[in-house]
Amino acid sequence: MKDLKSVLKNAYHGRRVMVTGYTGFKGSWLCLWLESMGAELSGYSLAAPSTPSHFELLKKAGSFKSARFQEGDIRDLEKLTAFMREVNPEIVFHMAAQPLVRLSYNEPIETYDTNVMGTLKVFEACRKVKNVRAIVNVTSDKCYENREWLWGYRENEPMGGFDPYSSSKGCAEILTASYRRSYFHPSKFEQTHSTLLASVRAGNVIGGGDWAADRLVPDIARSTSEGRATEIRQPQSTRPWQHVLEPLAGYLLLGGKLLEGKVEFADGWNFGPDADGGRQVQDVMDRFAKSWTKAKFDTPMMMKTNVHEAHLLQLDSAKARRLLSWTPRLSFDETVKWTAGWYRAHYEQGLTISMDQLSEFEGRV
Ligand SMILES: NC(=O)c1ccc[n+]([C@@H]2O[C@H](COP(=O)([O-])OP(=O)(O)OC[C@H]3O[C@@H](n4cnc5c(N)ncnc54)[C@H](O)[C@@H]3O)[C@@H](O)[C@H]2O)c1
Repeated sequence: MKDLKSVLKNAYHGRRVMVTGYTGFKGSWLCLWLESMGAELSGYSLAAPSTPSHFELLKKAGSFKSARFQEGDIRDLEKLTAFMREVNPEIVFHMAAQPLVRLSYNEPIETYDTNVMGTLKVFEACRKVKNVRAIVNVTSDKCYENREWLWGYRENEPMGGFDPYSSSKGCAEILTASYRRSYFHPSKFEQTHSTLLASVRAGNVIGGGDWAADRLVPDIARSTSEGRATEIRQPQSTRPWQHVLEPLAGYLLLGGKLLEGKVEFADGWNFGPDADGGRQVQDVMDRFAKSWTKAKFDTPMMMKTNVHEAHLLQLDSAKARRLLSWTPRLSFDETVKWTAGWYRAHYEQGLTISMDQLSEFEGRV
């Protein structure tokens, strides 16, 4: 296989690509990547969900030269459709969402409304504008019914979700499957429609530029920058950590196949870390502190939370490895080192090193 950089550049250079959720953590990295490949980029999203914001930092640094960005709510079908008519995307990466489990307990209506009805509106807008050839809908590893077992979940496992966020992502998957059968059936491609629809599931993503509330790495970055110890709730919890660029590489490889009109790729896809990524919170803390020695931690004796937290849910990503030649490129150590290094450069030197990290990542085999 050719190297990642040339495969992706070949797929996206000069292509009209739209990203929903471009102001978010994953969306801003994806936009940076697409821009660097020479895509004709557009984005639709609410304002950045945090201050600081990775998107705003990149924008200020002049990273988006000719991109067309529009602030707007995906639930506003009229505005969304008008924007899509204007930018006429060939492919849409749908990332706009309410992505936080804890917030979903407090705001279930907003969560379902955004993640399910919002996704429905994105699909409807794509149907209305007609020229969209590919849609990649970003859901989550939490979309699966968690049976609390040790084995990895495969793409054909039942959807579920305990908390409102996870369940909303399970619903978004069911919605995707329905739209694929009803309007975008692969067997009717280029006959009754010209759109291939896929969904992608990844897990606990870390990397520089995330400032979301209630996530481990942003919590560590914020408190370290303020000279405070980070209070860690459950250091023994195990999670499948991966660098943000890993699943994004998978989404892009998949999008490339859809743009080529390969109907067999219009399906659900897992992009999880390998066994090396399944580590305890404690491992993240230790590795983070090695790269940013100012990081200190405080672990009060098992703070009690009333909120249910799912146990380790691992993805089986054999399909992506086999059919997309996708593979994780960074070890767990590198993943945390790159993440800590990003925040350290931001807080101590005022630098945004995203493009350097992206170039290094692309060079990896
Ligand atoms: N970060 C992770 O670890 C992780 C893991 C699995 C899945 N995901 C999924 O990846 C996607 C991106 O997550 P993220 O971590 O970048 O989240 P984020 O909160 O950083 O970004 C969410 C984006 O969605 C936008 N948005 C929210 N509601 C909107 C609305 N109603 N209309 C338009 N835009 C709206 C926000 O403005 C922002 O741009 C989400 O679908 C999330 O569920 C994230």
